[in-house]
This record gives sequence, structure tokens and C-alpha cells, in this order.
Amino acid sequence: MSGKNNIEKLSEIDGHVAKHYNIVRRLGKGAYGIVWKAVNKRTKKIVAMKKIFDAFRNQTDAQRTFREIMFLLSFANHENIIQLIGLHKANNNQDIYLVFEFMETDLHNVIKRGNILKDIHKVFIMYQLFKAIKYIHSGSVIHRDLKPSNILLNTQCHCKIADFGLARSVTQVGEGDSESSGDPTLTDYVATRWYRAPEILIASKRYTKGIDMWSLGCILGEMLLEKPLFPGSSTINQVERIMATLPPPTPEDIMSVSAGYGSNLLEKTPDMPRRTLRELFINVSESAIDLINKLIIFNPTHRLTAVEALEHSYVAKYGTVFTYHENMNMKLISHVIVFIIVQVNLNVVPT
Ligand SMILES: Nc1ncnc2c1ncn2[C@@H]1O[C@H](COP(=O)(O)OP(=O)(O)O)[C@@H](O)[C@H]1O
Ligand SMILES: [Mg+2]
Repeated sequence: MSGKNNIEKLSEIDGHVAKHYNIVRRLGKGAYGIVWKAVNKRTKKIVAMKKIFDAFRNQTDAQRTFREIMFLLSFANHENIIQLIGLHKANNNQDIYLVFEFMETDLHNVIKRGNILKDIHKVFIMYQLFKAIKYIHSGSVIHRDLKPSNILLNTQCHCKIADFGLARSVTQVGEGDSESSGDPTLTDYVATRWYRAPEILIASKRYTKGIDMWSLGCILGEMLLEKPLFPGSSTINQVERIMATLPPPTPEDIMSVSAGYGSNLLEKTPDMPRRTLRELFINVSESAIDLINKLIIFNPTHRLTAVEALEHSYVAKYGTVFTYHENMNMKLISHVIVFIIVQVNLNVVPT
């Protein structure tokens, strides 16, 4: 297929799907497919439709598709996880359509536009992310691809985690996981590099929930800086940037990740000036810096867990003690905080 024909072909929507939805516009294009805004003709409900191309081409792609659907279905009841509301197969028996509730924008777009997020939004977003990740981790699953473009937002600053294509059950990862050699997403998946924990960069096979906590630290850092915290241009450069910021790892730290072939990367003296996290964040509240310092830590076992992060003063200090009740009404109970939603409306132009 020629390039142009190929693109046209990929953008096509099968007749039996188009019969039920009016396509409004394209929202995004990722490594695996296209996402459109669409309207269900009968219910008039606005949805996001993601077409995954050649979803079962090989074992890696088939697993990715299967996991995305399986995890989305398992986590369907959390208010900070995107809801999968429909599934259609394509006539070619190769592509698949996932239909989601629609969200106005994603965190990458919001940060890119600049000057939209106030301190209260950043706190509220982190609070919701910790809550969603606490839920996912309590089910022994690691998301593994937390980054701003996978965090969807609406104008009430309500946020939902999306894109479970790389998620893994903790029992599936770890020693003996032979996937790393055949799965490019585990080695050099460019889009995700900036949010990768050091243990992934040095090819450790011992993945823990801590890799999501590292990514959340990078996301908080990006909201505060309004630019990526560690925008590495290659795997080596990524490690260098991290090493130029963190204290040198101790032998115990290195043991903790049981480093793979990339461990010699740690021995190189970074080719750039040392700047601690505290020096990178100027005009940022003490509690924000303290939280980043407890997430951006080399040793994954020393990073805060999602449960601990929810108790940190950065997310705990703003509100009265509330939580969402099952039926989405807010209820006063202890331990968890939610903010008065009217305070945190986001002034975003939908993407
Ligand atoms: N439910 C949704 N509502 C609005 N936009 C969405 C939705 N789902 C995805 N998008 C947009 O499409 C982009 C790609 O979707 P994603 O599920 O992350 O797929 P990929 O695997 O291609 O990265 C997202 O970054 C976001 O901008
Ligand atoms: Mg994505």
C-alpha cells in the first residue's frame, strides 16, 4: 500500500460502526491507532472512538490489545479511570474499535498551552491520580505508561487515566519475564522515555509499582515547571539527566533494581552540571518539593506508595476531609480529601 492510501485506509471507519456514530473530528493519533470524537446517533452521547490497527498482528500486539481491554473492564468503576463503553470489531477482522466516554482534553495539551493550571488544579490532579493509582495498585496492576497525554481532563478538572495498553499484572512481571527482548515498548519506546523510572532505563527486570510512582513524580514536576522534568533525547541521555539530579545511588540502591545490561550507565559521570531537584524548582511550595523528593528517588522501594502519597501534605492540606461516595455524591468522611469542585474549574479550550 502506498503511504497516502495507507493513511486513508487507516482513517476509514467501517460501515457498521459509522451507522451508529457521527464522527466529529480527530482527537489524537498514537502509535497504535487513531482516536476520534464522535456522537452516538441514537443516544446523542458524545464519545471518543479509538481504532486500533491490526490489533492482533503478532503476539505483542495481541497481548497489548487484550490487556488494554481486560484492564479497562476490570477498573471500570473508578471515577478517575476512563470508562470503556463499547467495543466493535472491524470487517477486516484485524482492527478493533474501542468506544470511551469523552473527555475534553488531556494533560499534555493543557501543559503545552501554558498558564492554565493554577496551584489548586495541580494539587487536585495529583490527588485524583494518586487515588486512581492506589486503586490500580491494590489490584496488583502497574499502569507502566503514565504520562500527561494518557491523563484525560474535563473542564471541571476531573481527571481520568487512559491507555492501559502497557499495563501489567504484578504477577506477570519480574524475574523471568522474557518479553523485554521482543517488546519494543520495554526498551526504546520514544514517547514514554521521559517518564521512565531509572530501573526501566537500565533494563532491570524487576519492575514494581514504584515505576508508576516515579512517573507521577515526573508529571507533578512537569506541571510545576510547565515543561518536562527529564526530557532525555536518548536512553543514555535520560539516565544522565536523572543522575545529574539525584544523589549517586548506593550499592544497596543498585541491588534494589538488580540492574540488567544497562547498569554500567550508572557508573558514567554525567556529562552535565549537577542540579538537585530543589535547585530545579524555584518558587515552588515546600510541600510540592517535598513530595517530588519522595517520588523521584532512585531506589523504587524508597519511593512513596500511592497510599502514602495520599497522606502527603501537598494533597492533604487544601481541603476539608471528604471523599466521593459510591453514587458520586460527596460525603464527609475521614482520611481522604476532595476539594470543593467549583474552586477548581479549569479554563481550557477543548482540544
Ligand atoms: N476518552 C477520550 N476522550 C478524549 N480524548 C481522548 C480519549 N481517549 C484518548 N483521547 C485522546 O487520544 C490520545 C491517544 O489516546 P490513547 O488511548 O492514549 O492511545 P495511544 O495508545 O495511541 O496513545 C490521547 O492522548 C488523548 O489526547
Ligand atoms: Mg497514549
